[in-house]
Amino acid sequence: MTSDTCVDVILRVNGSARPLRLDSRVTLLDALRDELDLTGTKKGCDQGACGACTVLLDGKRVLSCLTLAAQCEGREVTTIEGLATDGALHPVQEAFVRHDGFQCGYCTPGQIMSAVALLQEGRAGSDEEIREFMSGNLCRCGAYPNIVAAIREVAGRGSE
Ligand code: FES
Ligand code: FES
Repeated sequence: MTSDTCVDVILRVNGSARPLRLDSRVTLLDALRDELDLTGTKKGCDQGACGACTVLLDGKRVLSCLTLAAQCEGREVTTIEGLATDGALHPVQEAFVRHDGFQCGYCTPGQIMSAVALLQEGRAGSDEEIREFMSGNLCRCGAYPNIVAAIREVAGRGSE
């Protein structure tokens, strides 16, 4: 790293200010995992194709492997580690557990962050809509039906 590519950035992650000195080319994904030890966010393809690295930026989902950490100065980053409150799992996390919405679990943090955003976006009106708006999150284990069931439950549509 040369000094001319170094930037000082204060990231707000899961409600805490985290000052960092980084190469300006470091992705948000690498900053979270390598600098802040927040390894819940997974690196799958590292090129925007799998969704494993999904986090929320100001409440909207982004692929952290395609987002530069330096662009996140002053913005609110939420990772899977920030979803539980007072030791209680987020309703989406609980629903994934209840519906076995994972097998190996590698895609699960990204799936859950996407699901949280999708519910906030009001995009869970039908199973087709859930599938469409979760289509950027791939699962090698094929846990899709259970993932849809978990999201459907949190959307308040029960079983269909
Ligand atoms: S690791 Fe970011 S989309 Fe695959
Ligand atoms: S649970 Fe294994 S990749 Fe999705």
